[in-house]
Amino acid sequence: MQNRVSRILLFSLVIFLAGNTIAQPVKPIYLDETRPIEERVKNALSLMTLEEKVALCHAQSKFSSRGVARLGIPEVWMSDGPHGVREEILWDNWGEAKWTNDSCTAFPALTCLAATWNPDMSAIYGKAVGEEARYRNKAVLLGPGVNIYRTPMNGRNFEYMGEDPYLASRMVVPYIQEVQKNGVAACVKHFALNNQENWRGHIDVQVSDRALREIYLPAFKAAVTEAKVWSIMGSYNQFRGEHCCHNDLLLNKILKGEWKFDGTVITDWGGAHDTKQAALNGLDIEMGTGTDGMTRSLTNAYDNYYLALPFLDELKKGTIPVSVVDEKASRVLRLIFRTVMNSKRPYGSLATPEHAQVARKIAEDGIVLLKNDGNLLPFDASKLKNIAVIGENATRKLTVGGGSSNLKARNEVSPLQALCAKYGSKISYSMGYASGPPAYGRVIPSKLNADSLRSAAVKIAGAADVVLFIGGLNKNHRQDCEGGDRQSYNLPFGQDKLISEIQKVNKNVVVVLVSGNAVAMPWVDKVPAIVQAWYLGSEAGNALTSVLSGEVNPSGKLPFTFPKQLSDCGAHSFDKLCFPGDSVHEIYKEDILVGYRWYDTKTIPVQFPFGYGLSYTTFEISKPTTDKPVYSRAETVKMSFTVKNTGNVAGAEVAQIYVTQSKCPVMRPVKELKGFKKVFLKAGETKTVTIPIKVQDMAYWDEKTNNWKVDSGEFILNLGTSAGDVKYMGAVQVK
Ligand code: BGC
Repeated sequence: MQNRVSRILLFSLVIFLAGNTIAQPVKPIYLDETRPIEERVKNALSLMTLEEKVALCHAQSKFSSRGVARLGIPEVWMSDGPHGVREEILWDNWGEAKWTNDSCTAFPALTCLAATWNPDMSAIYGKAVGEEARYRNKAVLLGPGVNIYRTPMNGRNFEYMGEDPYLASRMVVPYIQEVQKNGVAACVKHFALNNQENWRGHIDVQVSDRALREIYLPAFKAAVTEAKVWSIMGSYNQFRGEHCCHNDLLLNKILKGEWKFDGTVITDWGGAHDTKQAALNGLDIEMGTGTDGMTRSLTNAYDNYYLALPFLDELKKGTIPVSVVDEKASRVLRLIFRTVMNSKRPYGSLATPEHAQVARKIAEDGIVLLKNDGNLLPFDASKLKNIAVIGENATRKLTVGGGSSNLKARNEVSPLQALCAKYGSKISYSMGYASGPPAYGRVIPSKLNADSLRSAAVKIAGAADVVLFIGGLNKNHRQDCEGGDRQSYNLPFGQDKLISEIQKVNKNVVVVLVSGNAVAMPWVDKVPAIVQAWYLGSEAGNALTSVLSGEVNPSGKLPFTFPKQLSDCGAHSFDKLCFPGDSVHEIYKEDILVGYRWYDTKTIPVQFPFGYGLSYTTFEISKPTTDKPVYSRAETVKMSFTVKNTGNVAGAEVAQIYVTQSKCPVMRPVKELKGFKKVFLKAGETKTVTIPIKVQDMAYWDEKTNNWKVDSGEFILNLGTSAGDVKYMGAVQVK
């Protein structure tokens, strides 16, 4: 008994002593998620060597950069963006890694998202693509892109949000916010002035401060100041003699200075060109510098990046102060803490049926009905016995190609598949033309005989009740594709000739254009119906069929103008220096008059205006009122009116408000979009709508004071349904 008591006493003593002598491991501050991120960043930085800090500032593989292995700080894995999460790429080159677990949902291209004019669609897009990026364990999703549509020739317009800075700004914010709720950083790109692909690696863009501020920067500014984006990608081109990936004005002064961006600046792949500039002009992570030919003296090519050993050398010599690397490393650490070191980030999901539904919904919301004479659409299946489907884009995989936004989609429903599922044996198909196989960076013409393809198509067209021509551009080089611009405004591969021959044998032709760009339409008056169908992603065929069949009433509106001819476009109205540049310089001579701002101000008639799109129903908008007649600069005008669906089916109209300054000391466009609202209405339903317009948004950039300016005086609010259809004008005063 005594023995037992003393054993217990001894045991308790040992426990007591152990508890007091073995120190509990203290959690380092940087790992303590209850502390503010800034404190954690400071702490992590204080524990790192100079080499470790430099290692955060450049790639370690094609799509990743280092963490701090010694401290358990994870690497940064990135993926394109913006239409779905790109498949895994090999460590050291652009080859596919051929994993079998990385097939994704392909969402509609951003032009389609912009065409929804519906920020709710941006939100569900961002949420779903963010979940996919999270499931794939990415820290950064390389998108969305908001470069302004300056010319229909830009091969990359399909990845952007159109010609208007206000529309792009409203659409980009919810996308970013929802992506980032997944603990994945969005990376808005390409900052800035990457408005063409030809010579994109070096072309030196000259543009006025005013055009920069009013046209090319607002969507980036909204991404930074409103959506609080965590990373941004510099563009390949130069601006005023400096590459944009290390451009003092853009990155140090505007982005980090004025806009107080606290995230990470990432290069476009291969966008860095100099150690000193990369160090001093605002870049944080260097990616994709050509690794070929850089391995001669080093085992790891990444050590030779501008922000790797050459940077370390300068830091050690003292020619670049250590505060410079501290700043960059802090930004990278902040990115890591916000993403992969956020233990509360959700788990995400990949290629789910829910995501497919999201893709379909956005696609259906963005398809634009451009023409519908005699109400040929929607199809009345009971009256149709034979539908001839013609065109390569009825079957071609269009989630493939386009450059970095190329996707390995788990599923892609083609238009022909969906049409056959809906209309069965009523469908006959003929290819009509052939574009050649997918190939990046070069054009491989098709070996098929164009004449035989055309005559076979015309033959089935002649025998059909209705012809559905599904053509347009595709994701090949010199079409809608990164790395090159289009060579002609006309449709390629003989489609103009094909359409005109088809309409000679059949008057009931519906042209479905799959493209991310405007195209010339020499046949526009000869076909009764035209649908702009974008690149719609995994659910392309289903979404298109819903609209053609009337299950869904189209409600998309153009996010850019379709000019009648290329020479009508602002960028094409001057000499070569204005577009495409002389291979070294390019001067944006149309200045602030981009898109409808140009056509309106110069009174140039267009094929289809910005903001335009038809419906299967009709709407009536009432005369608007404003909440008061006079406003101060800090106030918001509230314009109210009713929208009534006067037809027989449910549908949606987009009410648009364009502002005109009546008298102004500087030139201003005839009108500029400053507010819009998509209104969904049942047949016969009326809703009251109020659209807020911030007086500050009516400002112009005053080059004399280098600041925004709202003059006192009268402003006209034009309420309409496109830039070409103003229904009411109301005046307000600013004092
Ligand atoms: C593109 C970027 C893309 C990057 C990585 C570049 O060629 O311009 O948009 O994110 O490649 O694929």
